This record gives sequence, C-alpha cells and structure tokens, in this order.
Amino acid sequence: MKKGNVAVLLSGRGSNFAAIVRASRRPGANFSVRLAISDRGDAAGLKKAARLGIPARHVDPGRFPGKAAYEEHLCGLMAAAGIDLVCLAGYMRLVGPVLLGRFPGRILNIHPALLPSFPGLDAQEQALRHGVKVSGCTVHFVDAGTDTGPIVAQQAVAVRPGDDVGSLSRRILRQEHRIFPRAIALFFAGRLQVSGRTVMIRGK
Ligand code: GRF
Repeated sequence: MKKGNVAVLLSGRGSNFAAIVRASRRPGANFSVRLAISDRGDAAGLKKAARLGIPARHVDPGRFPGKAAYEEHLCGLMAAAGIDLVCLAGYMRLVGPVLLGRFPGRILNIHPALLPSFPGLDAQEQALRHGVKVSGCTVHFVDAGTDTGPIVAQQAVAVRPGDDVGSLSRRILRQEHRIFPRAIALFFAGRLQVSGRTVMIRGK
C-alpha cells in the first residue's frame, strides 16, 4: 500500500503532532509523517520531532517580506518532501492564499471546541465562561476563515462541575489525540466526500 505523506505545522507543545506520528506507526496505518514545521524556534514540538525521528524545520516568518513569501517557502519544503496533506496542530497562524491554493481541500486543523462554537483563541476558556455543559473538539478542513471550514469529525466532552481551563483542556486534548489521526486515515482512505459545508464519510 502506498502511504499518504503528511506534514504537520505547529507552534508549540506538539502533543497532537506526536499522537499523529504514533498513529502513523501502528500496523496498517495508511499515512506517514514526513515533515514537521514550526514557526517558532522555541516550540517543544521541534524537540518531540527530533525524539521521534521526524525531519523538522523552524521557519521564522519574520525572515520573509510577507505571508506570501513565507508560505511559498513552506510550499517548497513540502513539495520536496512529497507532501499530500497538511495538518495544522496548534499552528497559531491564519493560513493564507498561497498555502490554500497549493493544497486545496488538503489542509486539516484541530480545534479544542465544538465548532462553530468558540472559534479562535482560548476556546476552552470561552466555553467555560459561557457556561456550556458540553464542549469538545473538532477536526475540519481549512478555508480562508478562522476555524470556519467544513467539519470532518467532532468529539463531545462533558464539562464537569469545578472544571477549570486546565482540567477541561486535558480531557479535550485526550480526544483530540484520537480524532485527528482518525480523520487523517479517513482522508487517505478516500472516504471523505466534501459537498459544500458537509463532509460525508463514505462507508466501507
Ligand atoms: C490543541 O488544543 C489544539 O486543538 C489547538 O492548539 C492545541 C495544540 O496542542 N489548536 P498541541 O501543540 O498539539 O499539544
């Protein structure tokens, strides 16, 4: 079986990245992680990549005249690695037209809330402040908006009395680590069919 090639873009801790790599190494996995890119030199995810034996690059956006040039550079690195799918895992930047144009329908993001509720930053805190009883996480295709693209997978997580941002985030994160690799596997199995805003998961 020819495996799909994944690049992970991150800005921080990299626990989703590590979960994706672990899943890619399970027997029968249909994808492999070929590249990790961080826009921050101090991202713990870069160290995780070294430990996991995944080629990793720090690309400082500040070195480029603008977002387009920065993303052209990312696209060059990904083309050289033969990347089929880009996964945003805690990547703290809006994707611009260059990257979107080079990977149409081939960029996934993970968000720590049940979209369309609580997009953007500090989603778990937004959810707690709002007083919701259920939150969770979402994997979605990336479009030009902030957390607005077609939804691939969601997992609900109950908010418990006494939860704070830390405790709720930890429980949501455990589910992120499950649904992101699963969504990637569905993508490479050719089982995701996008029609407008709706992503249908074709049965086996
Ligand atoms: C996750 O909660 C993810 O949903 C959000 O940023 C966080 C990244 O965590 N987009 P990690 O770097 O994968 O550990």
